[in-house]
Amino acid sequence: MRLRVWFRVLEPADLTDLDWSGGPEHLRVVAEAIGAAYAGEVVLRVGHLENGRLVALGGVDFRPDPESGLLWMLSVDERFQSLGIGTRLVHQLERAILRHGRTVARLTVELDNPRAASLYRRLGYRQEGPALDWWPVAGGRTYVAACTRWAHDLRMPSP
Ligand SMILES: CC(C)(COP(=O)(O)OP(=O)(O)OC[C@H]1O[C@@H](n2cnc3c(N)ncnc32)[C@H](O)[C@@H]1OP(=O)(O)O)[C@@H](O)C(=O)NCCC(=O)NCCS
Repeated sequence: MRLRVWFRVLEPADLTDLDWSGGPEHLRVVAEAIGAAYAGEVVLRVGHLENGRLVALGGVDFRPDPESGLLWMLSVDERFQSLGIGTRLVHQLERAILRHGRTVARLTVELDNPRAASLYRRLGYRQEGPALDWWPVAGGRTYVAACTRWAHDLRMPSP
């Protein structure tokens, strides 16, 4: 099944339609990232259906590393997964990295997320080594996850 999805810049008004992507703590991180996007440090994209319904969210953070863009917060509404939307989202964000003048895309994947890892492997990403990632969760706590860091040289043709 080929579903038509369009991608555009995330706008503040979109926050109320992104509850499928995570809880209030996650949405607070997204809201803070909008400020960084205005400063050119971050790119945020959403994918939407013809009726405007949001089905995909993802970003690139240019702050952690001067040579690459870090793919971030990748998420497709679970009712619309396995239709190729995640693949197109990654390609959109990779193009944003190239437009920013960088040639490497990086991301971290939790060790217990083999499905995401197989997607990135298929898209040309290769493992660089272990990494830790963390994000806020309910109750003011921070969730720390054991991850693998992956990288893709965007000058190489995609498989
Ligand atoms: C990871 C994630 C973003 C991928 O999004 P997605 O839209 O499902 O990705 P795609 O559809 O492009 O690819 C996923 C699968 O669909 C298959 N697929 C791709 N295009 C397809 C199509 N046209 N028809 C049917 N299947 C297709 C792919 O082969 C892939 O199979 P696999 O899971 O066995 O590797 C999504 O699963 C998600 O949001 N997961 C929860 C949050 C998460 O884990 N985020 C990543 C953190 S690193």
